[in-house]
Amino acid sequence: MSRLPPTNPAMLADISKVLYHESTILSRLDELAHTLTEEYRGKDLTCVAILNGSFIFMADLLRRIPLPLQVDCWSVSSYHGTTSSGQVNFRQTQLADVRGRHVLILDDILDSGVTLRAIHDRLAAESGALSLKICVLLRKQIGQARPIDADYVGFDIPNEFVVGYGLDYNEHYRNLPFIGVISEAAIARG
Ligand code: IMP
Ligand code: MG
Repeated sequence: MSRLPPTNPAMLADISKVLYHESTILSRLDELAHTLTEEYRGKDLTCVAILNGSFIFMADLLRRIPLPLQVDCWSVSSYHGTTSSGQVNFRQTQLADVRGRHVLILDDILDSGVTLRAIHDRLAAESGALSLKICVLLRKQIGQARPIDADYVGFDIPNEFVVGYGLDYNEHYRNLPFIGVISEAAIARG
């Protein structure tokens, strides 16, 4: 049973549809974590989590993987409102040393794929990692080819703007415990 307080009514009113409740998300993370535990057992693993969006996903997923792994968090941004700026900004200059290690990139959502392509290319070029894979909580069905795909996916979702469980609209709604579609009215309000 969830011990969380009731959701703020004003925030709830901005959600047109709940896609996944917390219990559904955590059940799926149990499955994903099991797969990843078997994949990386006996290997030196570093998880590179892309902030801000993946902070709750990262915390819930990694606590379900009982391996001696390391974590590095990258602060990356590309979005303003509901559209990607197309430009990926890395706020870090110093990256963790992952030479000779297996790297799993964790991100909240695969949309156009521009962000993960840039992150993947930078790691491939600079890191000396033994392997490089991508795990996302959500993958949007965008109806066109992407420059990169994920190796592990929590849920495939429709092409709508979603918030909660770490995902934001203009930095709001990240603390909603579920994933939902934001209403047109809330988007119009900004
Ligand atoms: P991409 O480069 O278009 O794949 O966008 C990736 C990033 O955009 C994600 O890591 C999110 O931070 C953000 N993003 C894309 N779609 C959504 C959404 O529906 N809700 C919230 N953030 C999103
Ligand atoms: Mg975002």
